[in-house]
Amino acid sequence: MRKMFDSFNEQIKNEFYSAYMYLSMSAYFSDTGLPGFASWMRVQAKEEVTHATKMYDFVLARGARITLKAIDTPPSTWQNPLAVMEAALKHEQFVTKSINDMTDLAIKEKDHASRNFLVWFVDEQVEEEQSFGDIVNALKLIKNEGQGLLILDRELGARTFVDETQTAAD
Ligand SMILES: [Fe+2]
Ligand SMILES: [Fe+2]
Repeated sequence: MRKMFDSFNEQIKNEFYSAYMYLSMSAYFSDTGLPGFASWMRVQAKEEVTHATKMYDFVLARGARITLKAIDTPPSTWQNPLAVMEAALKHEQFVTKSINDMTDLAIKEKDHASRNFLVWFVDEQVEEEQSFGDIVNALKLIKNEGQGLLILDRELGARTFVDETQTAAD
């Protein structure tokens, strides 16, 4: 079981890193005069913290140890809005792979509790990749500029924070 909980501790770090990077992206959008994108990214950062704490609570519930790790410095500047969203999508794909690897490990170790717990994250990653992917596609369509960018900014600004880890069955 040791390996399983090492991977949870590692993933808690990855989720906090996601929050940290999305906060950095939010700051970039604030700087570039896109308050809707900035607000969307702040909501996203909050969501990532709930992912980290959901895992944290699970590790404790299983009687295993939490060992928090150092969080890397995220990038602070990008070429344009599309480059930001492409980097975010790429990061989500990395997180998906990591969750999938954890699921493989849970199956290998016959750790049914971890396997079941991770189902929520497997589903969540489908949504994550889709929402970032949709924004990447929209930005490509409007070529990163003009009125389209302002409309998209307004649309993204409407997103509000919902703690999905609390609305789930637990
Ligand atoms: Fe996450
Ligand atoms: Fe995410």
